[in-house]
Amino acid sequence: MADKEHVANATFLQADAQVHPFPDQGFDIAISRYGAMFFGDPPAAFTNIARGMRPGGRPILLTWQPPESNEWQSAFRTALAAGRELPTPPPGAPGPASLSDPDRVRRLLTSAGFVDVRLQGLSQPVYFGPDPDDACRFVSGQLAWMVRDLDVDTSGRAIDSLQASMADHQSDRGVLYDSSAWLIEARRS
Ligand SMILES: C[S@@+](CC[C@H](N)C(=O)[O-])C[C@H]1O[C@@H](n2cnc3c(N)ncnc32)[C@H](O)[C@@H]1O
Repeated sequence: MADKEHVANATFLQADAQVHPFPDQGFDIAISRYGAMFFGDPPAAFTNIARGMRPGGRPILLTWQPPESNEWQSAFRTALAAGRELPTPPPGAPGPASLSDPDRVRRLLTSAGFVDVRLQGLSQPVYFGPDPDDACRFVSGQLAWMVRDLDVDTSGRAIDSLQASMADHQSDRGVLYDSSAWLIEARRS
């Protein structure tokens, strides 16, 4: 990938940010796009990342705002619930919404050794594919676990309902849903 883009100074490593032995004060910037919300132990992860950053270094995170500000989350959940009452995850449980509360984000980053925590709200359409078929295939693949316990007919109806929602959101730029995110920046003390 880096070769294809003619980027010679990039290396790739698959590791758990919560426990990976990053070199002490080894980095100036840590970027996560929609990843940090899935940390199982956010205090451990942010403390470990902070340890690997130089004083003045900047973490930059993109996280989702709460589900009610993200039309795509409620649309997919409603379609794939297929009439079931789905449990709401406890606040802060790993998942798309776990870093949606600005106070929690400030608390977590400050406790880990960051200062000057700032959140900027961004609202942009999110793209799921060029057409409803493609978008539905992508999303139903990602969220297959939500229909795994349904019988064949009900799960078929759930996917049809997802497809219908995709068709309602087709635009001349593909399948788009409203979304709102936080761009979170801070500084290593
Ligand atoms: C929704 S994906 C986002 C992927 C990519 N950043 C993007 O924007 O397309 C969430 C990512 O968070 C990563 N992730 C979750 N917990 C992690 C951890 N403890 N350490 C490192 N990566 C983690 C997962 O491996 C996954 O790639």
